[in-house]
Amino acid sequence: MQDSFPYPVKRIGIIGGGQLGRLMVMAAHKLGCAVTVLDPHRNSPAGQLAGHEIVGNFDDPVRIRELVESCEVTTYDIESIGTEPLIELVEQGHVILPDPHLLALIQDKLQQKQRFAEAGIPSADFIPMEQPGAEAFRQFGYPLVQKARRGGYDGRGVAVLESEADFDRHLKTPSLLERRIDTDKELAVMVVRATDGEMRCYPVVEMVFDPAQNILDQLLVPARIDAALDRQARQLAMDTVKALDGVGIFGVEFFLDRNGQLLVNEVAPRTHNSGHYTIEACVTDQFEQHLRAILGLPLGSTELLSPAVMLNLLGEPGFSGRPRVCGLSQALAIPGVSIHLYGKAETRPYRKMGHVTILDADLDRAREKARQVSRVLRIEGEEQL
Ligand SMILES: Nc1ncnc2c1ncn2[C@@H]1O[C@H](COP(=O)(O)OP(=O)(O)O)[C@@H](O)[C@H]1O
Ligand SMILES: [Mg+2]
Repeated sequence: MQDSFPYPVKRIGIIGGGQLGRLMVMAAHKLGCAVTVLDPHRNSPAGQLAGHEIVGNFDDPVRIRELVESCEVTTYDIESIGTEPLIELVEQGHVILPDPHLLALIQDKLQQKQRFAEAGIPSADFIPMEQPGAEAFRQFGYPLVQKARRGGYDGRGVAVLESEADFDRHLKTPSLLERRIDTDKELAVMVVRATDGEMRCYPVVEMVFDPAQNILDQLLVPARIDAALDRQARQLAMDTVKALDGVGIFGVEFFLDRNGQLLVNEVAPRTHNSGHYTIEACVTDQFEQHLRAILGLPLGSTELLSPAVMLNLLGEPGFSGRPRVCGLSQALAIPGVSIHLYGKAETRPYRKMGHVTILDADLDRAREKARQVSRVLRIEGEEQL
């Protein structure tokens, strides 16, 4: 194995300049790497820190080529990228990880589900639905979940239809229909896989939703599940990433249904919101771990050092424009609180502006502190809507 490097160790290209990219830039600098970021906007959260930016769209073959040719390894922090130019560049010998063929498969929720089925990975029953129509929905049976094959994220592109009366709300786009799972919990597991197939798995995270608004409220680690289920979730997460033959870090989302059965919902071929807690709570965080995997360096320890709660810091409804961070001192005064702000120039209602990790040896106490943080810390904006 090569064990002496010029400095900077490598130049890494990141497609996407959002918060995941920004946190990856920090990890890259820690490892002595330089970074170039491709994003449609100058001064993106990741671009600000990288210092080297290429401004261009994620499907612009010219800008993508410029990035990939100027870097030794290219990766991405988003999924909505034109994969054809990437595949062409890989064929010409450039290193882009995870493999753009895999990204193309994951971009299509139908193909992703079909791959799960072929590999024997349990997931909600589904059928393809190229041309949505009332009769086909009725035949599949309600309640159901309709998912757009492409382009959805953060719940956009997903319609939960309880009964035929909801058909009016269906998505008019090529889709799949899925059984609506009666979920006890939603769980997530980060898995890293190296080029030689070695895998490591992080602890199981539990996502807690606010029942009133149905938005993600807190992420808890370790998840409050029994040891057998915990083992099963981690094994299934690794089986899933192996079935995809992925290299790099992957976020595997699960449903735990009311019968105690685990079903894989979907996989993200990148760092994931549910892995942010690893920055403070694990020996090696998800960003460094991803870089180690794609650079061919030894994987780091995924050991959990402390229970943790993670909160997303969303733009307060009713505000836009230049952000105002309210309650910063009060939140920081709570022991165990770490605040990450993403450097976004403008806030919007529910925009991800930052996140907060709370460590405490006692998970219930961490949750109580998290509730305190939620009460005091708010991102408002200079303009009122
Ligand atoms: N089959 C299902 N049964 C019940 N709830 C579902 C189902 N599929 C999705 N959901 C709900 O919708 C959310 C978003 O769906 P997901 O497929 O993860 O799309 P996205 O790509 O937007 O994250 C899930 O986190 C879950 O709360
Ligand atoms: Mg999801």
